[in-house]
Amino acid sequence: MKLTYFGHSCFLIEFGGKKLLFDPFISPNELAKDIDINSIEADYILLSHGHEDHVADAETIAKRTGATIIATFEIVTWYGKKGLKGHPMNTGGKWKFDFGTVKMVSAVHSSVLPDGTYAANPVGFVISNDENAFYFAGDTALTWDMKLIPMTCPKLDLAILSIGDNFTMGYEDAIIASDFIECNKIIGCHFDTFGYVKVDHEVAKTAFEAKGKELMLPVIGEVF
Ligand code: NI
Ligand code: MN
Repeated sequence: MKLTYFGHSCFLIEFGGKKLLFDPFISPNELAKDIDINSIEADYILLSHGHEDHVADAETIAKRTGATIIATFEIVTWYGKKGLKGHPMNTGGKWKFDFGTVKMVSAVHSSVLPDGTYAANPVGFVISNDENAFYFAGDTALTWDMKLIPMTCPKLDLAILSIGDNFTMGYEDAIIASDFIECNKIIGCHFDTFGYVKVDHEVAKTAFEAKGKELMLPVIGEVF
């Protein structure tokens, strides 16, 4: 697995020979001004919910790359009206794609598209194939439903969790989430982009270490 961080909750993850782009919010993000969205390749664009800070560049990148959008039925329908192709899903469902299996899991947050269109419930994704499995939580509170993930999905190698607090879990709840999902290797997202989600990196990392867990806070543009 090769991951590239484009800021906020946007990651490009090469998985099963395909390029999966998650929650593209790059051009409006002042911190990501050095990222050229015209150079980003994607086979699939996965959208956790309809908020602007997760979908801002989805249309532009999908148009140029021809990527398939994987999201809720409502979000895929909205992009379909713009001529973009997608694979609609809903919470609890899984589908086998050419890179692996995507399971759409619940998230506790809100969701509406930029023009006010209803976007269904927000979701997270568990993505797996014979080699690896990871969880992209999207914007969510800590939720008891996370306990279902180890019961219904392959063992996770990695999880991407929001840690910015205010709109989502903070790092303290993300530590409990990592217990619930039985995964000790966490990449943080949804931090530092706005004043509301500024995080003290050392405090957050140290809190994870104290529980024997690893929290990576990627730098924008970093490949790992
Ligand atoms: Ni949101
Ligand atoms: Mn958000």
